[in-house]
Amino acid sequence: MTSGGDCQALNAAMRGVFKCISNNANEPVEFYGFEDGYKGLIYGKFRILTGKDFKGILTRGGTILGTSRVPFKTIHEPDENGLDKVEAMKQTYYKLQLDCLVMGGGNGSTKTANLLSQEGLNVVTLPKTIDNDLWGTDMTFGFQSAVDIATKCVDDIHTTASSHGRVFIVEIMGHKVGWLPLNAGIAGGADIILIPEIPYDIKKVVKAVEARDKGGSRFTVIVVAEGAISKEDAKLSKKELKKKREKHPYPSVAYQVADEIQQKTGREVRVTVPGHTQRGGAPDPYDRVFATRLGAAAGDLILKGEYGYMVGYRNREIVKVPLEEVAGKLKTVDPNAEIIREAKLIGISFGD
Ligand code: F6P
Repeated sequence: MTSGGDCQALNAAMRGVFKCISNNANEPVEFYGFEDGYKGLIYGKFRILTGKDFKGILTRGGTILGTSRVPFKTIHEPDENGLDKVEAMKQTYYKLQLDCLVMGGGNGSTKTANLLSQEGLNVVTLPKTIDNDLWGTDMTFGFQSAVDIATKCVDDIHTTASSHGRVFIVEIMGHKVGWLPLNAGIAGGADIILIPEIPYDIKKVVKAVEARDKGGSRFTVIVVAEGAISKEDAKLSKKELKKKREKHPYPSVAYQVADEIQQKTGREVRVTVPGHTQRGGAPDPYDRVFATRLGAAAGDLILKGEYGYMVGYRNREIVKVPLEEVAGKLKTVDPNAEIIREAKLIGISFGD
């Protein structure tokens, strides 16, 4: 099954699992594809998958199984008909006499996978998300493809920003972490990058824009993570922040930054939001290779009867990481990381 927000290379990963198991098992193996993530397992929505289903999908974006979000925080709440979701998933698993559940998912989905593993089911997971925020793996599949798309957007904005002499803000996804905006920002040559892990001071952002003006640059390109936050707002409690945002509503933080720069500099500022295009389309070659390797590694674990792991990537090697080590932890950008230091050395401002 695939669970949570989709991303590129989910199909490539499933194909890897299928090919590895069907090529190497000593006996015929049946594959069940659960539709729309955990919903499929809860409500017994599945279809038998054969070799035909996996043909031609290496390069196909999205997921052939469909996906949905079944939030972990509501997993213990009964559904609208009073159904116990965890019990229902276990029932489906036992009724079909499954040997192992393979799940491609991000943070929340991996928490549910860990729960099912603790409940006694055999589970192996694959790390997918454009956010690259899964703990236990240096990289998730989908991330590189999203970096490609986000970078193309930052690249393309440069020509129009330069023609008009404008300040441009590109809002990049990544949920609460800055991996995607950081990488797309550096790859696209952004002048300022604002990420959640480094709360910004709007005065410093304005100063960086003005410094470019003084240096003779006609334009400034700013990458703002969708989860970026000002130093001021970072001090507020969740409740206080919600109240503040209700009082001064902006569609997103990128628009707030744009408004503040416009007011403080008098410059024309535009916002571009590539949004879900960052999750769309075909996986890039890196993700095709990466997801295939992870799929094969997951298949190999299953053939050996090793369960309760996420297959991941650490120090350039494919590894298995116990699910209980992964579940509930977020991999964030370290504000003191080398990559941040190097970006600052070449003059990129983080507004701090
Ligand atoms: O987790 C992937 C992601 O694309 C995040 O970057 C983003 O915050 C979120 O999903 C968007 O979710 P949805 O598809 O539910 O709008």
